[in-house]
Amino acid sequence: MKDAFGLPQSLLVLGGTSDIALATARRLIARRTRTVWLAARPSPALDEAADRLRGLGAQVHTLPFDALDPASHEETLGKVFAEGDIDMVLLAFGTLGDQAHDERDPGAAVRVAQTNYTGAVSAGLVCAAALQNQGHGSLVVLSSVAAERARRANFIYGSSKAGLDTFTQGLGDALHGTGVHVMVVRPGFVRTRMTAGLQEAPLATTPEAVATAIELGLRRRSETVWVPGVLRVVMAVLRHLPRGVFRRLPV
Ligand SMILES: NC(=O)c1ccc[n+]([C@@H]2O[C@H](COP(=O)([O-])OP(=O)(O)OC[C@H]3O[C@@H](n4cnc5c(N)ncnc54)[C@H](OP(=O)(O)O)[C@@H]3O)[C@@H](O)[C@H]2O)c1
Repeated sequence: MKDAFGLPQSLLVLGGTSDIALATARRLIARRTRTVWLAARPSPALDEAADRLRGLGAQVHTLPFDALDPASHEETLGKVFAEGDIDMVLLAFGTLGDQAHDERDPGAAVRVAQTNYTGAVSAGLVCAAALQNQGHGSLVVLSSVAAERARRANFIYGSSKAGLDTFTQGLGDALHGTGVHVMVVRPGFVRTRMTAGLQEAPLATTPEAVATAIELGLRRRSETVWVPGVLRVVMAVLRHLPRGVFRRLPV
Protein backbone atom coordinates (compact mmCIF):
# COMPACT_ATOMS: atom_id res chain seq x y z
CA MET A 1 0.00 0.00 0.00
CA LYS A 2 1.03 3.59 -0.52
CA ASP A 3 2.19 5.50 2.53
CA ALA A 4 0.37 8.49 4.00
CA PHE A 5 2.20 10.73 1.51
CA GLY A 6 0.97 8.79 -1.53
CA LEU A 7 4.32 7.17 -2.28
CA PRO A 8 4.37 3.54 -3.42
CA GLN A 9 5.87 0.47 -1.78
CA SER A 10 5.66 -1.51 -5.01
CA LEU A 11 6.39 -0.26 -8.52
CA LEU A 12 5.89 -1.81 -11.94
CA VAL A 13 7.84 -0.14 -14.74
CA LEU A 14 6.84 -0.78 -18.34
CA GLY A 15 9.97 0.07 -20.30
CA GLY A 16 12.32 -1.01 -17.54
CA THR A 17 15.51 0.34 -19.10
CA SER A 18 14.22 3.89 -19.63
CA ASP A 19 16.53 6.52 -18.16
CA ILE A 20 13.56 8.52 -16.87
CA ALA A 21 11.93 5.43 -15.36
CA LEU A 22 15.14 4.34 -13.64
CA ALA A 23 15.73 7.81 -12.20
CA THR A 24 12.17 7.67 -10.87
CA ALA A 25 12.69 4.19 -9.42
CA ARG A 26 15.89 5.35 -7.68
CA ARG A 27 14.09 8.32 -6.18
CA LEU A 28 11.17 6.22 -4.98
CA ILE A 29 13.47 3.55 -3.52
CA ALA A 30 15.15 6.34 -1.56
CA ARG A 31 11.70 7.10 -0.12
CA ARG A 32 9.92 3.83 0.63
CA THR A 33 9.56 1.67 -2.49
CA ARG A 34 10.70 -1.86 -1.65
CA THR A 35 9.60 -3.98 -4.62
CA VAL A 36 10.27 -3.09 -8.26
CA TRP A 37 9.21 -4.99 -11.37
CA LEU A 38 11.09 -4.00 -14.51
CA ALA A 39 9.13 -5.07 -17.60
CA ALA A 40 11.21 -4.70 -20.74
CA ARG A 41 12.69 -6.36 -23.78
CA PRO A 42 15.38 -8.69 -22.41
CA SER A 43 18.89 -7.20 -22.72
CA PRO A 44 22.12 -6.83 -20.73
CA ALA A 45 21.00 -3.25 -20.01
CA LEU A 46 17.90 -4.61 -18.28
CA ASP A 47 19.97 -6.94 -16.09
CA GLU A 48 22.35 -4.12 -15.21
CA ALA A 49 19.47 -1.80 -14.35
CA ALA A 50 17.96 -4.45 -12.07
CA ASP A 51 21.31 -5.05 -10.33
CA ARG A 52 21.79 -1.34 -9.75
CA LEU A 53 18.37 -1.00 -8.12
CA ARG A 54 19.08 -4.10 -6.00
CA GLY A 55 22.22 -2.32 -4.83
CA LEU A 56 19.95 0.40 -3.45
CA GLY A 57 18.13 -2.14 -1.31
CA ALA A 58 15.06 -2.93 -3.40
CA GLN A 59 13.77 -6.37 -4.29
CA VAL A 60 13.84 -6.28 -8.09
CA HIS A 61 12.24 -8.64 -10.61
CA THR A 62 12.49 -8.48 -14.38
CA LEU A 63 10.02 -9.78 -16.93
CA PRO A 64 9.96 -9.79 -20.71
CA PHE A 65 7.64 -7.16 -22.16
CA ASP A 66 7.30 -5.91 -25.73
CA ALA A 67 4.97 -3.02 -26.48
CA LEU A 68 4.75 -4.29 -30.05
CA ASP A 69 3.20 -7.58 -28.89
CA PRO A 70 -0.11 -6.49 -27.33
CA ALA A 71 -1.50 -10.03 -27.54
CA SER A 72 0.93 -10.99 -24.76
CA HIS A 73 0.20 -8.10 -22.38
CA GLU A 74 -2.71 -9.55 -20.46
CA GLU A 75 -0.85 -12.76 -19.59
CA THR A 76 2.55 -11.16 -18.94
CA LEU A 77 1.32 -8.30 -16.80
CA GLY A 78 -1.36 -10.42 -15.15
CA LYS A 79 1.41 -12.55 -13.62
CA VAL A 80 2.85 -9.49 -11.87
CA PHE A 81 -0.45 -8.49 -10.30
CA ALA A 82 -1.06 -12.13 -9.30
CA GLU A 83 2.07 -11.90 -7.09
CA GLY A 84 0.65 -9.06 -5.00
CA ASP A 85 -0.64 -5.52 -5.11
CA ILE A 86 1.15 -2.94 -7.22
CA ASP A 87 0.95 0.61 -5.88
CA MET A 88 2.25 2.33 -8.98
CA VAL A 89 2.62 1.50 -12.65
CA LEU A 90 4.97 3.72 -14.64
CA LEU A 91 4.33 3.47 -18.38
CA ALA A 92 7.68 4.61 -19.71
CA PHE A 93 8.33 2.77 -22.95
CA GLY A 94 8.48 4.77 -26.13
CA THR A 95 10.47 5.39 -29.25
CA LEU A 96 11.37 8.67 -30.93
CA GLY A 97 11.90 7.19 -34.38
CA ASP A 98 13.72 9.11 -37.08
CA GLN A 99 11.26 11.56 -38.60
CA ALA A 100 13.08 12.14 -41.89
CA HIS A 101 13.64 8.43 -42.43
CA ASP A 102 10.20 7.38 -41.21
CA GLU A 103 8.41 9.77 -43.59
CA ARG A 104 9.93 7.73 -46.42
CA ASP A 105 9.33 4.38 -44.72
CA PRO A 106 5.69 4.07 -43.64
CA GLY A 107 6.42 0.69 -42.02
CA ALA A 108 8.89 2.35 -39.66
CA ALA A 109 6.42 5.16 -38.93
CA VAL A 110 3.78 2.58 -38.05
CA ARG A 111 6.20 0.96 -35.59
CA VAL A 112 6.57 4.29 -33.80
CA ALA A 113 2.78 4.62 -33.63
CA GLN A 114 2.30 1.02 -32.53
CA THR A 115 4.92 1.27 -29.81
CA ASN A 116 3.91 4.63 -28.39
CA TYR A 117 0.16 4.48 -28.91
CA THR A 118 -1.40 1.07 -29.48
CA GLY A 119 1.16 -0.65 -27.23
CA ALA A 120 0.24 1.80 -24.50
CA VAL A 121 -3.49 1.41 -25.08
CA SER A 122 -3.14 -2.32 -24.59
CA ALA A 123 -0.77 -2.26 -21.60
CA GLY A 124 -2.59 0.72 -20.08
CA LEU A 125 -5.96 -1.01 -20.17
CA VAL A 126 -4.54 -4.24 -18.73
CA CYS A 127 -2.90 -2.37 -15.84
CA ALA A 128 -5.90 -0.10 -15.27
CA ALA A 129 -8.18 -3.13 -14.89
CA ALA A 130 -5.77 -4.75 -12.44
CA LEU A 131 -5.43 -1.55 -10.40
CA GLN A 132 -9.19 -1.20 -10.36
CA ASN A 133 -9.51 -4.76 -9.05
CA GLN A 134 -7.16 -3.83 -6.22
CA GLY A 135 -9.13 -0.63 -5.63
CA HIS A 136 -6.00 1.51 -5.34
CA GLY A 137 -2.80 2.52 -7.09
CA SER A 138 -1.44 5.06 -9.55
CA LEU A 139 -0.93 4.73 -13.28
CA VAL A 140 1.70 7.25 -14.34
CA VAL A 141 2.14 7.72 -18.08
CA LEU A 142 5.06 9.45 -19.78
CA SER A 143 3.51 11.57 -22.50
CA SER A 144 5.39 14.57 -23.93
CA VAL A 145 5.09 18.25 -24.80
CA ALA A 146 5.23 16.90 -28.36
CA ALA A 147 1.66 15.71 -27.79
CA GLU A 148 0.43 19.28 -27.48
CA ARG A 149 0.95 20.51 -31.02
CA ALA A 150 2.12 18.96 -34.28
CA ARG A 151 5.64 20.06 -35.20
CA ARG A 152 7.12 19.68 -38.67
CA ALA A 153 10.26 18.19 -37.15
CA ASN A 154 8.62 15.30 -35.25
CA PHE A 155 4.95 14.92 -36.07
CA ILE A 156 5.05 11.12 -36.32
CA TYR A 157 6.29 10.83 -32.72
CA GLY A 158 4.13 13.81 -31.69
CA SER A 159 0.95 12.33 -33.09
CA SER A 160 1.59 9.03 -31.34
CA LYS A 161 2.09 10.89 -28.05
CA ALA A 162 -1.05 12.97 -28.71
CA GLY A 163 -2.99 9.72 -29.00
CA LEU A 164 -1.38 8.39 -25.84
CA ASP A 165 -2.06 11.63 -23.97
CA THR A 166 -5.73 11.77 -24.95
CA PHE A 167 -6.15 8.09 -24.13
CA THR A 168 -4.60 8.59 -20.69
CA GLN A 169 -6.77 11.61 -19.89
CA GLY A 170 -9.89 9.64 -20.80
CA LEU A 171 -8.73 6.65 -18.77
CA GLY A 172 -8.19 8.97 -15.81
CA ASP A 173 -11.77 10.19 -16.13
CA ALA A 174 -13.06 6.64 -16.46
CA LEU A 175 -11.26 5.63 -13.24
CA HIS A 176 -12.15 8.76 -11.30
CA GLY A 177 -13.78 7.74 -8.01
CA THR A 178 -12.53 4.14 -8.16
CA GLY A 179 -9.52 4.77 -5.93
CA VAL A 180 -7.15 4.53 -8.90
CA HIS A 181 -5.17 7.64 -9.77
CA VAL A 182 -4.03 8.33 -13.33
CA MET A 183 -1.34 10.93 -13.99
CA VAL A 184 -0.16 12.27 -17.34
CA VAL A 185 3.46 13.48 -17.32
CA ARG A 186 4.50 15.87 -20.09
CA PRO A 187 8.25 16.44 -20.10
CA GLY A 188 9.97 18.69 -22.60
CA PHE A 189 13.45 17.79 -23.84
CA VAL A 190 15.07 15.40 -21.35
CA ARG A 191 18.75 14.43 -21.60
CA THR A 192 18.50 10.64 -21.96
CA ARG A 193 19.53 7.83 -24.29
CA MET A 194 16.53 8.78 -26.45
CA THR A 195 17.80 12.30 -27.13
CA ALA A 196 21.56 11.58 -27.11
CA GLY A 197 23.22 13.39 -30.02
CA LEU A 198 20.22 15.64 -30.72
CA GLN A 199 20.40 19.39 -30.49
CA GLU A 200 19.01 20.45 -27.12
CA ALA A 201 15.70 22.29 -27.05
CA PRO A 202 15.20 25.30 -24.76
CA LEU A 203 14.33 24.38 -21.16
CA ALA A 204 16.08 21.01 -21.50
CA THR A 205 15.96 19.00 -18.30
CA THR A 206 17.19 15.78 -16.69
CA PRO A 207 15.67 12.40 -15.79
CA GLU A 208 16.20 13.29 -12.13
CA ALA A 209 14.08 16.45 -12.54
CA VAL A 210 11.31 14.37 -14.10
CA ALA A 211 11.58 11.93 -11.18
CA THR A 212 11.25 14.80 -8.70
CA ALA A 213 8.17 16.09 -10.52
CA ILE A 214 6.64 12.61 -10.54
CA GLU A 215 7.19 12.27 -6.78
CA LEU A 216 5.52 15.63 -6.20
CA GLY A 217 2.65 14.67 -8.50
CA LEU A 218 2.12 11.45 -6.53
CA ARG A 219 2.09 13.33 -3.24
CA ARG A 220 -0.44 15.82 -4.63
CA ARG A 221 -2.38 13.20 -6.60
CA SER A 222 -2.01 15.46 -9.64
CA GLU A 223 -3.66 14.56 -12.92
CA THR A 224 -1.15 16.41 -15.12
CA VAL A 225 2.50 17.19 -14.54
CA TRP A 226 4.73 19.33 -16.79
CA VAL A 227 8.50 19.14 -16.57
CA PRO A 228 9.78 21.78 -16.18
CA GLY A 229 6.57 23.31 -14.82
CA VAL A 230 6.94 26.50 -16.86
CA LEU A 231 6.21 24.47 -20.02
CA ARG A 232 2.57 24.51 -19.02
CA VAL A 233 2.48 28.26 -19.66
CA VAL A 234 4.74 28.13 -22.71
CA MET A 235 2.57 25.48 -24.36
CA ALA A 236 -0.66 27.30 -23.46
CA VAL A 237 0.64 30.13 -25.64
CA LEU A 238 2.16 28.01 -28.41
CA ARG A 239 -0.96 25.87 -28.70
CA HIS A 240 -3.02 28.91 -29.68
CA LEU A 241 -0.68 30.47 -32.22
CA PRO A 242 -2.04 30.50 -35.77
CA ARG A 243 -0.66 27.67 -37.92
CA GLY A 244 1.19 30.06 -40.23
CA VAL A 245 3.00 31.67 -37.31
CA PHE A 246 3.77 28.39 -35.53
CA ARG A 247 5.21 26.90 -38.74
CA ARG A 248 7.83 29.65 -38.91
CA LEU A 249 9.02 29.20 -35.33
CA PRO A 250 12.37 27.44 -34.89
CA VAL A 251 10.86 24.72 -32.67
N1 LIG B 1 13.88 12.04 -23.45
C1 LIG B 1 12.98 12.98 -23.73
O1 LIG B 1 13.30 14.11 -24.15
C2 LIG B 1 11.51 12.71 -23.50
C3 LIG B 1 10.63 13.80 -23.47
C4 LIG B 1 9.27 13.57 -23.28
C5 LIG B 1 8.81 12.29 -23.11
N2 LIG B 1 9.69 11.23 -23.14
C6 LIG B 1 9.12 9.91 -23.01
O2 LIG B 1 9.60 9.32 -21.82
C7 LIG B 1 9.62 7.89 -21.97
C8 LIG B 1 10.97 7.37 -21.53
O3 LIG B 1 11.97 7.87 -22.40
P1 LIG B 1 13.49 8.08 -21.99
O4 LIG B 1 13.83 9.49 -22.26
O5 LIG B 1 13.72 7.52 -20.64
O6 LIG B 1 14.21 7.25 -23.11
P2 LIG B 1 14.94 5.83 -23.11
O7 LIG B 1 15.92 5.75 -22.01
O8 LIG B 1 15.39 5.64 -24.51
O9 LIG B 1 13.75 4.83 -22.79
C9 LIG B 1 12.86 4.34 -23.75
C10 LIG B 1 12.38 3.00 -23.28
O10 LIG B 1 11.39 2.49 -24.18
C11 LIG B 1 11.65 1.11 -24.34
N3 LIG B 1 11.04 0.57 -25.53
C12 LIG B 1 11.14 1.01 -26.80
N4 LIG B 1 10.44 0.20 -27.63
C13 LIG B 1 9.90 -0.78 -26.84
C14 LIG B 1 9.08 -1.90 -27.08
N5 LIG B 1 8.67 -2.23 -28.33
N6 LIG B 1 8.70 -2.68 -26.05
C15 LIG B 1 9.10 -2.40 -24.79
N7 LIG B 1 9.90 -1.34 -24.49
C16 LIG B 1 10.28 -0.55 -25.51
C17 LIG B 1 13.16 1.02 -24.37
O11 LIG B 1 13.54 -0.31 -24.17
P3 LIG B 1 14.84 -1.00 -24.86
O12 LIG B 1 15.92 -0.90 -23.84
O13 LIG B 1 14.41 -2.41 -25.11
O14 LIG B 1 15.11 -0.24 -26.13
C18 LIG B 1 13.47 1.95 -23.20
O15 LIG B 1 13.32 1.27 -21.98
C19 LIG B 1 9.28 7.62 -23.43
O16 LIG B 1 7.92 7.28 -23.54
C20 LIG B 1 9.54 8.95 -24.11
O17 LIG B 1 8.74 9.09 -25.27
C21 LIG B 1 11.03 11.41 -23.32
